[in-house]
Amino acid sequence: GKDGYRHYMEKELHEHPVVIGQTLQRLIDPATRRVVLPDLPFDMASVPRAVITACGSAFYAGMIGRYWLESVARIPVDIDVASEMRYRDPPLTPGGMGLLISQSGETADTLAALRGMRAHRQHIVSVLNVEQSTMARESDVVLGTAAGPEISVASTKAFTAQLSVLACLAIAAGRQRGVVSPDQEQALVASLLDLPSRAGEVFDQADAIRRMAAVIAGARDVLYLGRGSSFPVALEGALKLKEVSYIHAEAYAAGEMKHGPISLIDQTVPIVATVPSGRLFEKTLSNLQEARARGGRLLVFTDTQGAERLRGIAEIVVAIPTVDEFTAPVLQTIPVQMLAYEVALLKGTDVDQPRNLAKSVTVE
Ligand code: F6R
Repeated sequence: GKDGYRHYMEKELHEHPVVIGQTLQRLIDPATRRVVLPDLPFDMASVPRAVITACGSAFYAGMIGRYWLESVARIPVDIDVASEMRYRDPPLTPGGMGLLISQSGETADTLAALRGMRAHRQHIVSVLNVEQSTMARESDVVLGTAAGPEISVASTKAFTAQLSVLACLAIAAGRQRGVVSPDQEQALVASLLDLPSRAGEVFDQADAIRRMAAVIAGARDVLYLGRGSSFPVALEGALKLKEVSYIHAEAYAAGEMKHGPISLIDQTVPIVATVPSGRLFEKTLSNLQEARARGGRLLVFTDTQGAERLRGIAEIVVAIPTVDEFTAPVLQTIPVQMLAYEVALLKGTDVDQPRNLAKSVTVE
């Protein structure tokens, strides 16, 4: 049941902290605080390349996974949505890692991409929530997400569980490739283990998120912005808003705004930006100032460290706990999903069963 929540989506949003914790528990040894993966049938130290594919939200999780595999493990990565990947026919060096991500394990395009990669002699590693699924049976290794059943058609908790697995995969790969030292591994693991309690604190911001929702609910179009690993968070926020509120939303890498979408900006198109403190903070801030100067209404998700700078330029600032740059996208995903839910409530849509959507897309 819904345990007293109005919708499964609301219940599942509140499960983020627990799901992150349970997923990490499977992959981190509590005694040594090191990542322990199941045995892989190949050597991460010498794998030439990773190819990531998935659909929808799982694809956005994969985009964040790409940042981690590149920056933490220094593995070259190619990524595409499965419906493109399966027909692109990219030249793949045998012995590469094919990394599939799926909540259901049944998505037709992702499964077809898996089979295509296998035909090109890739090692198939799947990040799956349903471990008794077709993809599970056809994979060399399954890295399970411990999200439990996800009933809401719009995915929520599966996303942070997928990120938890991908972060661990990047750390383990980095160690095996000699680019993550034992000290660095301890620090990265510590920041992951800190996530469940920090994720719980995100819900303290519910009132401010509702104020944002009131602005969004009156809009026809919304622009989501982010840079680096916050760009997939923006994509996820825009997708979730479209799915459950039927409001048109687009996500852009903040630096791309001046190459086109800035022409959309006026008081009627609210901008939802995800701007955690860190390396890309100032860059994104200057993009937001440009939008502000053109009359854009800024609704910003940041952390406590970034909040002060943003209060001067944004109409509404939601500050969640400041965490390591590495884990920031995991935490920043939660408020953008909460925002979509709150807008759907204001719009009175069928939150758990949006029109035209199915939980598992088993046809192409
Ligand atoms: C978004 C959503 C979809 C799924 C996509 C992939 O809220 O639910 O975009 O993420 O259909 O589904 P799985 O992960 O089952 O392969």
